Amino acid sequence: MNIYIITGASKGIGKALAEELLKDENNLVVGVSRSSTIKHLNYRHQPLDFSDVPAVEHNLHKIFLPYKDAQKLVLINNAGVLGDIGYVGEGMPNERFEFVFDVNVIVPAMLMNTFLEVYSQHPAQKVVVNISSGAGKYPVDGWASYCASKAAIDMLSQTVQLEQDKRGTGVKVYALSPGVVDTYMQGQIRESDASRFSAVEKFKQYKENNELASPEEVGQKIANFLNNTDAYNNVVVSVRDM
Ligand SMILES: NC(=O)c1ccc[n+]([C@@H]2O[C@H](COP(=O)([O-])OP(=O)(O)OC[C@H]3O[C@@H](n4cnc5c(N)ncnc54)[C@H](OP(=O)(O)O)[C@@H]3O)[C@@H](O)[C@H]2O)c1
Repeated sequence: MNIYIITGASKGIGKALAEELLKDENNLVVGVSRSSTIKHLNYRHQPLDFSDVPAVEHNLHKIFLPYKDAQKLVLINNAGVLGDIGYVGEGMPNERFEFVFDVNVIVPAMLMNTFLEVYSQHPAQKVVVNISSGAGKYPVDGWASYCASKAAIDMLSQTVQLEQDKRGTGVKVYALSPGVVDTYMQGQIRESDASRFSAVEKFKQYKENNELASPEEVGQKIANFLNNTDAYNNVVVSVRDM
């Protein structure tokens, strides 16, 4: 059995990836998010709100069960939020930084930390995929906390891979950018005000010109990538290269 723990499997990219993986009866998917939308014999849901860090800490043991017979153990930190769109210093409540970092960085780091610790002696092949973004590689006005959170995910992934290499564990860690995908998050981007986000028109054009990838297409590419990680040696990868 292959075990895939996917955060944010209730919609968007995470859901499409979970549904793609569930086509193979050897795969078990554990979805972690606030809501559940998948009904399948090989799907298990763990409800959790990542903006409540103490509750996440309290429930970690429910996610990472022993899975003694697993041949492959995969953690996909996919859940993410854009946060409030707007310029820093222009009416942004301070607690919104904490919210974006809790969901996009702190909880993914806690999950990765627990996954590596709990399964350290497990003989299965182990892979961690942290879903990143192009927005972690260059600044986008109006998205300061989102850009910073994804840059943190890239560096966290690179550092943990370096550590795993030094320990010779064979664990592979990736920071994977999915490209521009037609999900709820993109809808939120298109609704923003141009005075708080100068590129809004470009994102509206992506939708009008059918330039957004579908979640299903991206879910399929990530599933193929997961079956073929030996071909990818860089930690920071993009669906565009797959
Ligand atoms: N779409 C794009 O163009 C794009 C581009 C680059 C990177 N990404 C990245 O891709 C990942 C998936 O994005 P998406 O576009 O598929 O987004 P989406 O459709 O908005 O889905 C987000 C997922 O995250 C979960 N989530 C949100 N807040 C949560 C919370 N407080 N606690 C637990 N789970 C929470 C949601 O589940 P619940 O609502 O059930 O909690 C949902 O399943 C994100 O990391 C995003 O940054 C997306």
